[in-house]
Amino acid sequence: MKLYRIPTAGSFDSLSLCEEAPPTPGPFQVLVRVRATCLNYRDLMVLMGRYGRGGLPPNVVPLSDGAGEVLAVGPGVTRVKPGDRVAGIFMQTWLAGEITAESGASAMGGSIDGMLAEQVVLHENGLVHLPPHLSFEEAATLPCAGVTAWHALAEHARIRAGDTVLIQGTGGVSIFALQFARMMGARVIATSSSDAKLERVKAMGAETGINYRNTPEWQDAVRAATGGRGVDAVVEVGGPGTFSRSLQSLRVGGKLSLIGVLTGAAEVNPTAIMRASVNVQGIYVGSRAMFEAMNRAIAANDMHPVIDRVFPFAEARAAYQHLQSGAHFGKVVIRHD
Ligand SMILES: NC(=O)c1ccc[n+]([C@@H]2O[C@H](COP(=O)([O-])OP(=O)(O)OC[C@H]3O[C@@H](n4cnc5c(N)ncnc54)[C@H](OP(=O)(O)O)[C@@H]3O)[C@@H](O)[C@H]2O)c1
Repeated sequence: MKLYRIPTAGSFDSLSLCEEAPPTPGPFQVLVRVRATCLNYRDLMVLMGRYGRGGLPPNVVPLSDGAGEVLAVGPGVTRVKPGDRVAGIFMQTWLAGEITAESGASAMGGSIDGMLAEQVVLHENGLVHLPPHLSFEEAATLPCAGVTAWHALAEHARIRAGDTVLIQGTGGVSIFALQFARMMGARVIATSSSDAKLERVKAMGAETGINYRNTPEWQDAVRAATGGRGVDAVVEVGGPGTFSRSLQSLRVGGKLSLIGVLTGAAEVNPTAIMRASVNVQGIYVGSRAMFEAMNRAIAANDMHPVIDRVFPFAEARAAYQHLQSGAHFGKVVIRHD
């Protein structure tokens, strides 16, 4: 079977196509034929050697996100059976409750091998069933960006109908956050570097779009759009470069889900957090229980993830390059033919 490995990270050329014997499932393990995988910004950092403090294991199989069908199960498996449509969970051992240091170290496509292979073997606990109405390509978008956005809005901010949510940019996490916020009956304010992309988020239900290039003081526009009150929740993907403005966009007692680090370094003034009694929560994807709750909501609402482009397995490198270009809207997928 074919798979990709990263012998030494550092450039697009680091992504190496290999041929190896198919894996066989041992006790409590499941053999999955991967039908589609999906890229996240993190995967770009992994490939370029800019992810993780301690470095990655050598020769890692990249990508946390993938969906496929069960081909065979090892002795003792009860959670799935051959033919089931499944996705791997981002952290293979974070099943429910709070994250621990141990479960944080079980992230696929980083700490351990990931999904960019024709077949993978995973522990039965590291899988969820797919929402029935989704294609493999759609379902492959869920494990990282989908669960992260769900964790931020459903678990941390606990959004209620009538709340207002600020999303930043139009990448994978933010478009999921837009869809979930609308599903929960919330208003959405979106920022983007592109007016054309802002038109698209408005067509998906965002009430206000702000171009953060043309409007560098976008926090003022956010406050104006909420009658001066500020938003209830921010899905923060910008990181150091946007954090202070995000704080200024929040209402007193609002919630900031700290997810991403897309922009450069900046000083953060903790006084602003204290003065407005803001709740800042670091979010690292989510547990299997969150994934399953999200899948129920996606199925009940007939929601479809937004796919920007699908690349063939043989052109995985081009998929990475497309993600790096920043031209995408939503998710970049690889089909495993
Ligand atoms: N903590 C976690 O568990 C977790 C999980 C998933 C992702 N992340 C992190 O979240 C971030 C986003 O990930 P992703 O996979 O959604 O990335 P992505 O799909 O590559 O999205 C990138 C988009 O972010 C927008 N952006 C860039 N700079 C911005 C800025 N200064 N202000 C506002 N928007 C900006 C751009 O949108 P426009 O083109 O519209 O301007 C760009 O297209 C990354 O830092 C990633 O590492 C963290």
